[in-house]
Amino acid sequence: MLIAELREARRAKGWTQARLAERIGVSSQTVKRLEKGIGSTSNLLASMRALEFTLTGVGAGATLTEQLQARRRRQGLSMAEVAMRAKLSRTTVADLERGGGSVASLLRLLDALAPRARRRAPERAYWGQAEKADRDSRFTPSSFLAPIYEAFGAIDLDPCGHELSPVVARRRLVPEHGADGLTDTWTGRLVYLNPPFSQLLVWLRRAHEQWRAGNVETVVGLVPVRTDSSWFHEVFSSDADIFLLKGRVSFLDTKGKKQPTPFSLMIFTLGAGPEQKRRFAELVPGFWLSRDHAPRD
Ligand SMILES: C[S@@+](CC[C@H](N)C(=O)[O-])C[C@H]1O[C@@H](n2cnc3c(N)ncnc32)[C@H](O)[C@@H]1O
Repeated sequence: MLIAELREARRAKGWTQARLAERIGVSSQTVKRLEKGIGSTSNLLASMRALEFTLTGVGAGATLTEQLQARRRRQGLSMAEVAMRAKLSRTTVADLERGGGSVASLLRLLDALAPRARRRAPERAYWGQAEKADRDSRFTPSSFLAPIYEAFGAIDLDPCGHELSPVVARRRLVPEHGADGLTDTWTGRLVYLNPPFSQLLVWLRRAHEQWRAGNVETVVGLVPVRTDSSWFHEVFSSDADIFLLKGRVSFLDTKGKKQPTPFSLMIFTLGAGPEQKRRFAELVPGFWLSRDHAPRD
C-alpha cells in the first residue's frame, strides 16, 4: 500500500522520478527501485517528506519511523517482542527506529504494528477554483499588517515572499529570485509567515524547526484554523500560542483585488512575549487560547 500510494502521490504532483530524485539528492535509478519497494529507509523518508506524504493510523511523530516507535511504545511492546511479531531481528527494529534499515524491513514492521495505516488525505487548497500558484499567492493587506508591526515590532524575515506583497520585511525569500523558504536558513528576530495554504503543514513544521534551532527569536504566522494533524497536537499545541481571529481577513490577489477568506483563520506565535500578545489582543478582535494543558517534555 505504502509504496503504491507513494508513487501515486508523486504522479499526482506531476513529478517525474527524475524530479523527485533531484529533490532528495539521489539518482533516478534509486527512486525507480524505491517505487518497487527496494532501497533504504532514509531515502523512503526523504521521498515522503518531499511529497508531503504522511500516514494516519500509526502514531504521533515527525517521520514514519518515529511514528512506528510511538506506536510500539503505546502498545507496550519491547523491541524484541515487536521483532518477533514482524519476523525481524531486534537489531533491525532498533535500526529502523533510528531511521536506518531497508524499505522491505520497514514495510514488515509497519504491517506488524499498524496494518490499518493509510495515507493521510492531502491537504486541500483553501481557496476555490483557480490556478494553484494563484491560490497560494494571496497577500496580507496592510490593514492587517499594521497591528502586527505595532504589537510585535519590525519584521526581519518574510520566508515566503512575493514581489507584489505589501509585507515590509528586512529580508524576503522570493522564489522568483531563486530563494526557497523551505531550505534557506531563516534569520532575524521577527519572522512573519503567511504561507501557501496548500502546503500548510510543511510550512508550520519548517517554522517550528527554524525556531527550535534558535535561528529566529519569534515567529508570527497567519494561517487557516486547521488542527487535525497529530503533529499539531503533539508539537504545535504545546510550543505555539494560538489566537483565534474574529471575522475574516480580506487578502489581496495578484491583481490587487480583495479576496475574503471562505474559512476561519488564526494567528500563531512561537517565542512571543506576554506584552506583545497583550498588545495584539487590544488591537485585533479575537482571543488567545489558554495554555492550561501540560507542556511537552
Ligand atoms: C500566501 S502568499 C504570502 C505572501 C506574503 N508573505 C504575504 O503575506 O503577503 C505565499 C507566497 O509564498 C511564496 N512561496 C511559495 N513557495 C515558496 C518557497 N518555497 N520559498 C519562498 N516563498 C515561497 C509564493 O511566492 C507565494 O506568493
